[in-house]
Amino acid sequence: MSVRRGWNFLMTPGPTNIPERIQAAMNRPALEYAGPEFLDLSMGVHEDLKKLFRTDSEVFIYSANGHGAWEAAISNTLSPGDTVLVPGTGQFSMGWSDMAETHGVNSIYLENDWRNGIDPSEIEQKLRDDTAHKIKAVLMVHTDTASSITSDIPAIRKTMDAAGHPALLIVDTIASLITTEYRMDEWGVDVTVAACQKGVMMPPGMSFTAANTKARKVSEENSTGRSYWDWSSRRGPIHYTWYCGTGPINMVFGLREAIDMILEETLEGAAVRHQRLADATRAAVWKWGEAGTMELNAQVATQAANGVTTIRVDESIDVDVLQALLREEFGVALGHGLGQLNGKTFRIGHMGYCNEPMILGALGSVEAAFKMLGIAHGEGGVMAAVKSLAEAKN
Ligand SMILES: Cc1ncc(COP(=O)(O)O)c(C=O)c1O
Repeated sequence: MSVRRGWNFLMTPGPTNIPERIQAAMNRPALEYAGPEFLDLSMGVHEDLKKLFRTDSEVFIYSANGHGAWEAAISNTLSPGDTVLVPGTGQFSMGWSDMAETHGVNSIYLENDWRNGIDPSEIEQKLRDDTAHKIKAVLMVHTDTASSITSDIPAIRKTMDAAGHPALLIVDTIASLITTEYRMDEWGVDVTVAACQKGVMMPPGMSFTAANTKARKVSEENSTGRSYWDWSSRRGPIHYTWYCGTGPINMVFGLREAIDMILEETLEGAAVRHQRLADATRAAVWKWGEAGTMELNAQVATQAANGVTTIRVDESIDVDVLQALLREEFGVALGHGLGQLNGKTFRIGHMGYCNEPMILGALGSVEAAFKMLGIAHGEGGVMAAVKSLAEAKN
C-alpha cells in the first residue's frame, strides 16, 4: 500500500463519518450515572430524540447496534407462535425476518426482486386473507441498505387500514432516519426502530425504539420473557433502569451534540441535502452505465434511497478488486454487496456527515479506479454529478 496523506473517505452506508463536534463532545470524563448533571442531560436527550422521529411517544435507548433494536421490537411485541408479515426489499428485510423466526415467530416473507418496493396491494391481500388475525405485525424496512430501495410507509399504512387489520406497523428506519422524511405519528407507525451510526452521525453502538400507546399495551400484555429489551422496566423513578444498567454516558454526550446538529440543520434541511447528494451520485451512475457494464439497482426513481446507492455490475467487473483499489490507492471505503447481491453490486454511502465535495471526491476516485482497472464505463460521470449539484444548489 502506498503512503497516503489527507483524509480517508468513509463512504460506506454505516458506519459513517463522525463530525469533529461529536468527537469533541464525547471526549470528556464520565459523570456519575445517578448525579444531577447526567440525569438532566439524559432526560433532555430522551425528550429531544422524539423530534427526530416526529413522535410524541417514548423513545428507548439501547447500548446495542441496530440488531439490538430489531430484537427489542420483536421481544416486546411478539411471542412464539405469532406470525409477522415481512415485505422483502433486500438483505435487511430478510435478516429481520430470520431474527423473528429465531424467536419462534412465523414469518411470511414476501419475496421480491430487491430492485423495487413491494406493491402495497400485495400486503393488503395478505392481510385480507388473514381473517383470523394471526399476523401480529408488519415488519417493514423503510430503506433497505443492501438494495437502496426506500418503501412508501404511508401507502403501507393505508393498505393496512383498508384491510381493517389490527397488526402493528413496525418500521426499521436504521438507514432512513435523517436522510429521508419520516413522520412516525402522522404516518401511523406503531414502533420505530433506529440506530445511531448512519444519519445520526454517531459512532456505532447505540440504537433506539419508539413505541406508541398501542404497541406499549401489546408489550405490557406480552408475558414472553425478556429483560434488557423490556420497555416497561425501562421507565420509572430510578434513571438507572432507563438503560437497564449503567448508561453509555459518553455516547449520550455525543448524542446530545448530534441531536443539536440535526435540529440546527432541521429535519427538512437534512433530507434535502441527502436527496441532493443522492441525485448527484445517481447522475454519475447513469453516465457510467452508458457502456452497459453497470446500472442503478433501484428501478423506480421515486424508490431510490437518499442515503445509499447500490450499483449493479456485470461479470466483467470484479467488485472486490475495485473496492480494494479504492481503499488502498485512494483511501476511499465503499460498501460491498450484501446477501444475494454480493459480488454483483457495490454501494456508495452518502449519509450522515457528508457534503458535496466529499461526494465529488468519492465519485472522482471511483471514476479514476475504473480507468486504472480498464473497466468500461460511460464518460462524464463526475461532470454529470457536478451539473446535478450545481442545478440543485441554484
Ligand atoms: C436497514 C438496516 N437495518 C438493520 C441494520 C443492522 O444494524 P446494525 O449493523 O447496527 O446491527 C442495518 C445495518 O446496516 C441496516 O442498514
